[in-house]
Amino acid sequence: MTLGEQLKATNAWTPPWQTEQWWAGTRAPMQQATGLPPAAYADPDFFASEQQRVFEQGWVCVGLAADPSPGRVLVRRLGRRSILITADDDGAVHGFLNTCRHRGTELYEQDCEIGATLRCPYHRWGYGIDGSLRSTPRFDDVPRTDDFDKADFSLFPVRVQAWGVLLFACLSDETAPLETWLGDLPHRMGGYSLQDWQPRLTESVVIDANWKLIAENFAEYYHLQWVHPELSKVSRVEDHYRYQGPGMYLGQTTTPVSGDERDDWLALPAADGLDESDLVSGRFVTIFPNVLLSVLPNHVFVMHLQPIAPGRTVETYTFLLPKNGAHATDEAFESTRTFWIDVNAEDIDIVQRSQRGLSRGGVTPGPLAPRFEEPLHRFHNMLADLMTTDSPGTVSVPAGDDDSEAARWGAGANPTPPAVDQQA
Ligand code: FES
Ligand SMILES: [Fe+2]
Repeated sequence: MTLGEQLKATNAWTPPWQTEQWWAGTRAPMQQATGLPPAAYADPDFFASEQQRVFEQGWVCVGLAADPSPGRVLVRRLGRRSILITADDDGAVHGFLNTCRHRGTELYEQDCEIGATLRCPYHRWGYGIDGSLRSTPRFDDVPRTDDFDKADFSLFPVRVQAWGVLLFACLSDETAPLETWLGDLPHRMGGYSLQDWQPRLTESVVIDANWKLIAENFAEYYHLQWVHPELSKVSRVEDHYRYQGPGMYLGQTTTPVSGDERDDWLALPAADGLDESDLVSGRFVTIFPNVLLSVLPNHVFVMHLQPIAPGRTVETYTFLLPKNGAHATDEAFESTRTFWIDVNAEDIDIVQRSQRGLSRGGVTPGPLAPRFEEPLHRFHNMLADLMTTDSPGTVSVPAGDDDSEAARWGAGANPTPPAVDQQA
């Protein structure tokens, strides 16, 4: 047994990625920064640390705000944990660890109808929708002699909260509230009234790539011209700009989101009431760690990532339509769906290839392109912040872009960037 293995076996091993030194290339200023070492994408020990430090410490997307409903329980994975989500008749959502307070049995294996009671299959302890312990069959056949009180044995609560169309959960009580995590994003995207948009279709695909490669690929438009030659004819690189204020997110916007050559995704009507900027823009936002939002004037395409192994991720995507577009014809919707399936297939192909190169090459990638890959630098630093702490309360939400490049992408929350030919 090597020393490393011995230390690991005795639990005294500190993984290198939990130290700042390991992140030197990430902590460097943008114009000197490099991509992440390949272990971040391929090492099972890194993956285990990440599940714990990112997915058990951060606010993680667990589905859509519309998923919970009264009488139903949802079962979701959060890092190594399983959680349950319920909803009251008045719409309030509750989250709990999926473990019985008697002897720890898993309460539910999958989403199902439960009526008004959560029941353990083992000895039938029953819990209310709010997690309070209500019944303990035959427990008092012989009374306990201590001061056992049902009130002390509610299910362990987990914070669950909706924003817009998304549902988030957080296992750590130390982590800042969701409002802090999201920063100025709700304000920035307030004009869309996303909470009113309706899910039209949800599908899932298993991708042979680390979840971060999918998020990183979504966050940069450097690859547009070469991976999406058709798309780049109408969604030009020159029309993309950064879209980043304070908050645990990264983003780019396309203004105008042009459609003169390929207009198949324009078949649906634009949402009512959008302002001038939202009406002509596409907002492409990654909310750290695992949700990718493409917000167009007439539909939203949400991708939600569930890591299942270092090189494997389940991507669940949902199309949402504004109220006035919810009854669009199947034909109009299908042309939007096909547009995204085509683009997504090109992205899936390239991220799977990235995974193979990182896994088999085994060397740290090179420099990031400052013009296009700054959002990746921001993403990597959010990751580094969580990976190097076990006190998520100390993690600070990053500030947004400064104004130094306002000439390129405009300033303020929803900029209207200067015309391309006036840019530096
Ligand atoms: S373990 Fe749940 S009731 Fe016994
Ligand atoms: Fe892409």
